[in-house]
Amino acid sequence: MTRRGFLGATMTAALYSRVLGANDRVQVGFIGYGLIGAQHVHDFKKQNDVDLAAVCEVHQGRLEEGVAACGPGAKGYRDFRRLLEDKDIQAVVISTPDHWHALMSILACAAGKDVYVEKPLTLFIEEGRWMVKAARRYNRVVQVGSQQRSGRHYQNAITLLGSGRLGKVHSVRMGAFRNVMPGFGSPPDSEPPKDLDYDLWLGPAPLRPYNKNRSLYHFRWFWDYSGGQVTNLGAHEIDVIQWAMEVKGPTAVSSSGGRFALKDNGETPDTQDATFEYPGFTTVWSHREACEGGGAGEGLTFYGTKGSMSLSRSGCEIRADAKMPPENQIPQFLGHPVGGPQAHRDVEPVPWTEALRERASNDLLASHARNFLDCVKSRERPVADVEEGHRTATACHLANISLHVGRKVHWDPSQEKILGDPEASAYLLRPYRKPWDEVLRSLNL
Ligand SMILES: NC(=O)c1ccc[n+]([C@@H]2O[C@H](COP(=O)([O-])OP(=O)(O)OC[C@H]3O[C@@H](n4cnc5c(N)ncnc54)[C@H](O)[C@@H]3O)[C@@H](O)[C@H]2O)c1
Repeated sequence: MTRRGFLGATMTAALYSRVLGANDRVQVGFIGYGLIGAQHVHDFKKQNDVDLAAVCEVHQGRLEEGVAACGPGAKGYRDFRRLLEDKDIQAVVISTPDHWHALMSILACAAGKDVYVEKPLTLFIEEGRWMVKAARRYNRVVQVGSQQRSGRHYQNAITLLGSGRLGKVHSVRMGAFRNVMPGFGSPPDSEPPKDLDYDLWLGPAPLRPYNKNRSLYHFRWFWDYSGGQVTNLGAHEIDVIQWAMEVKGPTAVSSSGGRFALKDNGETPDTQDATFEYPGFTTVWSHREACEGGGAGEGLTFYGTKGSMSLSRSGCEIRADAKMPPENQIPQFLGHPVGGPQAHRDVEPVPWTEALRERASNDLLASHARNFLDCVKSRERPVADVEEGHRTATACHLANISLHVGRKVHWDPSQEKILGDPEASAYLLRPYRKPWDEVLRSLNL
């Protein structure tokens, strides 16, 4: 089918997509069967109102594995456009590398499919607004793979933060530390393997010689396909922060770092710090790929005037600060000579707030799949709607834009514009490779 033919067919499909009833089974197609794609098949299988209808993969071995995992009757596709033309399929789960998320999701919406798409939502900022427009124009449910939003303990934590349990939250720290020295090697460029459709793997990304590290899983360390750990892992944490703090985005972001230690052909930083400024609070991201750091700096912690809260996929912990006169918190040694601040001797510290330890009580991934399916039927907005995913990815991308230009970038979250910096603004948009640029243009978003 020609490109025009394909788009014509998808538009028509959008008009015919029907609303499902509560007892209907949802026919789901899975695009990308890699690390997380295989997990999604597993989690959707747990739902009793789903048929695992099809898998699309550009890697032949993975396609065969995926079809087998879906079970009898599942169809296999190499080209996702064929899967989108399949009128039996009502929803797709997109688990490809980041550079495919936007265009595939938009085309799926145009084809009348609801979409569950992995995080980070986008490769560059402008893609996110196109995705929101497509979701709204075609009246599609678009759930982002920010599975924390379906975690019961995350939802409780957000309620506690909103109720003032930590007092005023003025800062949040997040980080991901590990040691993968010496890295993933520097394999030479080569012919793509026979079992991989490299052209379709690349899609809208620039044409480069095939390199083993630029493909399965390791695409994460190359700017053509990813933003590195600040978008890969940071997207999860920033999503929780913006959700908890009810903000649309930072007003300024600065970041520094580099690939200082790893000895491989990856490009994205192995060491990066970023500061995000929001009205009334700041957020700091740090990742280290070449040092575990003894656990310090790991995870997500909210700091408030009454205590702090650590939040992860395994649980939530509130530590109460001790309430005592401020003079008791400053060094005393022998005591200050006359005129200096004196400690109050007979004051017993009391906790500012109530401590808490809550373990994760539900399966985040299965619950997120469930929420998506419920919304496919009810037509309600999912817990991790595309608009939120766009705003989360935007904050992450701003950190990398600051890293690239070497200075703080100022952001207007309402207008979605970088202020007063044409060089930085140029990073908001990247060209798609032919013919995908024309496909995008023809959608007129
Ligand atoms: N939410 C989470 O906790 C979580 C965890 C892991 C990965 N992810 C996200 O999931 C995405 C995939 O990551 P991964 O680790 O599974 O990568 P992966 O490389 O293991 O899997 C991606 C798969 O997509 C396939 N693919 C690429 N282009 C395709 C195309 N045009 N059509 C069909 N298939 C195509 C690849 O062949 C590969 O098998 C990334 O965006 C990543 O950030 C999310």
